[in-house]
Amino acid sequence: SWHRGIPVVHVSTSLLGMVDAAIGGKTGVNLASGKNLVGAFWQPSGVVCDLDSLASLPPRELRCGLGEMAKYHFLTGDDLLAMDLEQRIARCVEIKAEVVASDEREGGRRALLNYGHTLAHALEIATDHELAHGEAVAIGLIYAAELGFDLGRIDRARVDEHIAVVAKEYDLMTRPPSGLGVDELVRLMYRDKKALNGLTFVLDGSDGVEVVQGVDEAPVRASLERFLA
Ligand code: GLY
Repeated sequence: SWHRGIPVVHVSTSLLGMVDAAIGGKTGVNLASGKNLVGAFWQPSGVVCDLDSLASLPPRELRCGLGEMAKYHFLTGDDLLAMDLEQRIARCVEIKAEVVASDEREGGRRALLNYGHTLAHALEIATDHELAHGEAVAIGLIYAAELGFDLGRIDRARVDEHIAVVAKEYDLMTRPPSGLGVDELVRLMYRDKKALNGLTFVLDGSDGVEVVQGVDEAPVRASLERFLA
């Protein structure tokens, strides 16, 4: 919005920025009623990622980047666990850039980058942003896997792969803090910007992740009740 149309170079100093926010030209602004509800697309002329800056990050900020990085483990067949951090960041950048290049304005495929984000956005609002975005995404990934299992889309071993990445590899929380209610979270998930046709989730399956519109509320509630218990 600033000086409409001015060329911009993003110099990313956080892990979350490097693997996600700096790439793809989203300029979303949060409203009280939801995340990123206002914004436009404006591609940067370039993105600079200096990995030395990661050493300056507070541990929680670094963990938030790992939460966003975790989703890339499930978007393609790549074995990110076999890569060191530098290779992993580079591969995440490539995956994101490829998805954005194929669907800049999120007419379809780009929404895959929101894996784990349907519950995550609701958790951020319900906790008044006490849960940071990357922390909420980590929990949202586990919920999306559990929901995928409950809907018969993936097996338990695949859910365990999600837990292995989120909890074991990245030492992130897999469950939300106590005190949250199913009703509130379901209400907030209906307000997700992907939700054009009822509850909408990015879900894993035998053909990989896909955007699923109009997911029945009953299994969402049942999975969430177990998830919060
Ligand atoms: N962070 C998701 C996207 O850029 O589409």
